[in-house]
Amino acid sequence: MDKVNTILFYFTGTGNSLKAARELAQELRAAELRPIARLINRGGPISANADRIGIICPVYAWGLPLIVLQFIQQLSVDQSSYIFGLVTCGGFAAATLKQLDRLLRQKGLKLSAGFSLRFPGNYTPLYGAIPEKQQKELFSKAHLRLKQIAGIVREGRMARIESNFFLVNLLFSGLIYRQGISRFPAGDRDFWLNDKCSGCGICARVCPVNNIEMKEGRPRWQHHCQRCLACLHWCPEEAVECGKTTQGRRRYRHPEITLEDIIQQK
Ligand SMILES: Cc1cc2nc3c(=O)[nH]c(=O)nc-3n(C[C@H](O)[C@H](O)[C@H](O)COP(=O)(O)O)c2cc1C
Ligand code: SF4
Ligand code: SF4
Repeated sequence: MDKVNTILFYFTGTGNSLKAARELAQELRAAELRPIARLINRGGPISANADRIGIICPVYAWGLPLIVLQFIQQLSVDQSSYIFGLVTCGGFAAATLKQLDRLLRQKGLKLSAGFSLRFPGNYTPLYGAIPEKQQKELFSKAHLRLKQIAGIVREGRMARIESNFFLVNLLFSGLIYRQGISRFPAGDRDFWLNDKCSGCGICARVCPVNNIEMKEGRPRWQHHCQRCLACLHWCPEEAVECGKTTQGRRRYRHPEITLEDIIQQK
């Protein structure tokens, strides 16, 4: 197989990470986007032959999504590859990128650079979508930062693996992540339907890991959930609720990412 210039692996629920990946790909020109969900759903080893490899995903509970852990396990790349991480988050990433570096090192690889980028948060159980004006401000800042990141990646430069202070990392990426992430797969028992569900099946189509089956015209969650919240945010009727707090809260989707983009990541 011919070696390509740059491969950007991405995972997304509401489009922020895909948008970041697309902007980077545009800046880097000869870059190929590969969806992590599709590769995982296919099964087997994941190989990548490129000078530069990017891993782009959201931060979940101050750490990596479960599907990204699985992806790293299955990844097989040349040890000389320049690998960088880019995580999108609503607040801060704590030690998410250090976790990525640690997992790569267990395979004889390493991160050459790790960037975190703020985008509108999508964790509706805690908050609703921020107003459009604030969203646009974050998009402009992200756009400028992505240009800088592209410059670093293009030159294959080493850069800091961004993280927060030691105690913040310990509390959020250590204690809270460890507690939280193990509950995600069966945590889909928190989802329920309000009376607006039309039975359209879009939630099942957007689920990147096929965790939703339609039965008698209603979604049924299958307990291998990533908690990406794509089902909640992409439901056209806003019929998917999660726990006791999401009713009436504004949903969020990146405005430049389409339903089809999300469906096609698997
Ligand atoms: C399950 C879950 C956990 C999250 N945890 C964090 C977090 O720990 N820190 C943070 O800043 N944002 C957190 N967020 C917000 C997302 O990281 C952020 O909105 C991200 O850009 C979403 O990316 P996507 O649109 O590509 O899915 C969380 C979102 C979800 C769904
Ligand atoms: S996307 Fe919403 S309206 Fe459509 S089946 Fe799923 S929950 Fe019901
Ligand atoms: S069921 Fe919903 S939250 Fe869970 S992985 Fe699928 S789309 Fe994401």
